[in-house]
Amino acid sequence: MEKIRSKKIYKILKIIFSVVAVLLISATLSRSVPDGTLDYVCKSNVTAKKAIALTFDDGPGKHTERLLDVLSENDAKVTFFVVGNKAEKYPETLKRAYDEGHLIGSHTYSHIDFYKTSLDDIKSDIIKNIEVIENITGKKPVFLRAPYGNVTPVQLKQLDTVFVHWSVSTLDWYGEEEEFVYNRLMSVAKDGAIILLHDTRETTVDAVLRAIPELKAQGYEFVRVDELITRNGDEIRTGIPYRSCKQDKSPLAY
Ligand code: NI
Repeated sequence: MEKIRSKKIYKILKIIFSVVAVLLISATLSRSVPDGTLDYVCKSNVTAKKAIALTFDDGPGKHTERLLDVLSENDAKVTFFVVGNKAEKYPETLKRAYDEGHLIGSHTYSHIDFYKTSLDDIKSDIIKNIEVIENITGKKPVFLRAPYGNVTPVQLKQLDTVFVHWSVSTLDWYGEEEEFVYNRLMSVAKDGAIILLHDTRETTVDAVLRAIPELKAQGYEFVRVDELITRNGDEIRTGIPYRSCKQDKSPLAY
């Protein structure tokens, strides 16, 4: 009799624990990404006819401060897609980038490949990165770039967040030298471009330092991704990957 009763109590406790666990997990996951209603307002300051959004992935790193110096000297604003485990190593650099007016986006906490990761694991990695970035800057990142650009159309809908891809890669991740990255930057620069770079690479930072004043002299303005994609009055939307935004045209989304 005693045995049956304790078995019953054990069963009830098990059910209670399961319910609490499910509630806790779903509460954690539901914090992750907007639920379809995006509360993000950006007043675009883009005035130039030729505007470019430079985007830097995988940092912050030891070369980022040097990049921030030259951005500040040239009144250029960019977007950093930050990896959480790097942000933990360089919190002051990230805080400086945020304080100086650059847009801070997420590039996941541990640079996961969405093609090889379950939806739940992707969500918890994204949540972790949001928390790391918010703890350092005081603001939750809204924009996300999937590592390697790998995200399926189904995941785009399921994650319901603002994805930013790119229109041009400088191929700097391929181990190219400064001269190559510089030449590529100078040749691919065009109005509305979202350009992929990596501030973790010394050669990239060297190339950008050279290119920025020269492109500025050609009339280019360097702006944040959120400013670029709202330059024509469009509202920011979730579930589609932004790749570029030309003057007088809606942001191209595929
Ligand atoms: Ni990356």
